[in-house]
Amino acid sequence: MDREWYDRNYPKYEDMRMQAKKDGNRLRYHLMPPAGWMNDPNGLCQFQGVYHIYFQYTPFLAGWGTKIWGHYTTRDWVHFREEEPFLFPDCVWDRDGVYSGCAFEKDGEIHYFYTGNVKLSDRQYDYIREGREQNTIHVKSSDGMTAQAKQLVLSHADYPKDMTKHVRDPKVFAKHGNCYLLLGARDKEDRGCALLFCSKDLEHWSYVQRIAPQEYFGYMWECPDLFTLNGKTFLLACPQGLPKKEHCCQNVYQCGCFTAKQDPQKGTYTLGEFKELDKGFDFYAAQTFEDEYGRRILLAWMGMPDAEYDNDVTAREGWIHALTMPRVLTVTDGKLLQNPLKEMEQLRRNKRHTTLRAFVCQETKDCCFELHLEFLEQARAMTLWLREDVMLGYQDGVLALCLGKSGCGRGKRTVRLKELRSFTVFSDTSSVEVFINGGEETMTTRVYSESLEQKVWFSDTDADAQVQWYDLDGYKMQWKLCK
Ligand code: FRU
Repeated sequence: MDREWYDRNYPKYEDMRMQAKKDGNRLRYHLMPPAGWMNDPNGLCQFQGVYHIYFQYTPFLAGWGTKIWGHYTTRDWVHFREEEPFLFPDCVWDRDGVYSGCAFEKDGEIHYFYTGNVKLSDRQYDYIREGREQNTIHVKSSDGMTAQAKQLVLSHADYPKDMTKHVRDPKVFAKHGNCYLLLGARDKEDRGCALLFCSKDLEHWSYVQRIAPQEYFGYMWECPDLFTLNGKTFLLACPQGLPKKEHCCQNVYQCGCFTAKQDPQKGTYTLGEFKELDKGFDFYAAQTFEDEYGRRILLAWMGMPDAEYDNDVTAREGWIHALTMPRVLTVTDGKLLQNPLKEMEQLRRNKRHTTLRAFVCQETKDCCFELHLEFLEQARAMTLWLREDVMLGYQDGVLALCLGKSGCGRGKRTVRLKELRSFTVFSDTSSVEVFINGGEETMTTRVYSESLEQKVWFSDTDADAQVQWYDLDGYKMQWKLCK
């Protein structure tokens, strides 16, 4: 699907886009595909004041297909513009999909690195050990809108010999005057890891190290990322194949972060503890970047590949999946915290302030609200009911998010807490994101209610709390017009 093919076919899908945009489950303050399919956020950056949010995109199909990079821009996280797609599969290195990648600013230009996916079809392959190429491609842009010529910088000959054909999702970062590139990988013994490369000029990369814990940690890692905040270094990754545990790793795949330490002489890393970034149903392929204010911002795909639950209700209307709200990362007492980006406060309307004891029931016409609760005393039990059949319940140190029919197969997710001090629920037309204890934990889910006219209330709650409620407005989207 090169640009010409896309341009030629774009007008034919106007009805699909119209149908998608009319769907009652369209989110108001989350980014979704205009129509079709969206997965990972890609190339996140702020360049000359403008935030660029690219994403894995299948514009004409609300299902798995050949990926291009869709593109939104914003200056304030309230007004967004749909831009022309940025990357298309149009060369021998990426003909079956421009897969995930990153942006890196240097000398007034944006350098993008992404995976070119190639699937051989001349005979039968397992597509793990054979039959696939995953090339690391570099492309520059002076404005974030037009991509210059593609350049192949790494291919299988450059990856360690014991890797399978699954090596992808480059993330580039700078440290001590060098540039580093991380890739997610699966080795021939089915052990997941990240591969680290180093470069001085962003073109020539030399292999540094394989990063993984000593013990088995899944068969494949996707979408690695690495950053230092407050003197602490974290490696993000999406390991596949971790065993389920009580209150941990309840999803089919994980998206989490290791603490990491760098050997200053060798530049190599060792990993510490792993913690899932989100304990809900729909959170994967998180990517971070530092903006011009020095904030480390995270966006993730609000979805889960190969999950046993579905999003068929929106797929039937011609679109599927979304990104999470933008979250700012901070480190306090060594803990990585996620909180909504301050700009989200611009969406607040009609503040109501009360206590939990005085809170009887709140009615909502569109399910778009922010509910913040701060306990005034130690809580042992609390139940919050929202939407048709969603329950957030705390009992004996475990917080549970439970969905009924509106979960389309999503049942229950839990997180163990030392105590429940506070939480904030962000409800959108078809999603819920919960930030717990100042962002120490989060839980994210899609949800498909029959009606958005709903009541929110509490039961079985043994402690009082301050409660703040805001109705939330939507993003102001400027959609591309059909040519
Ligand atoms: C993660 C992922 C990446 C890949 C992309 C393809 O969701 O599978 O590993 O680059 O999505 O769309």
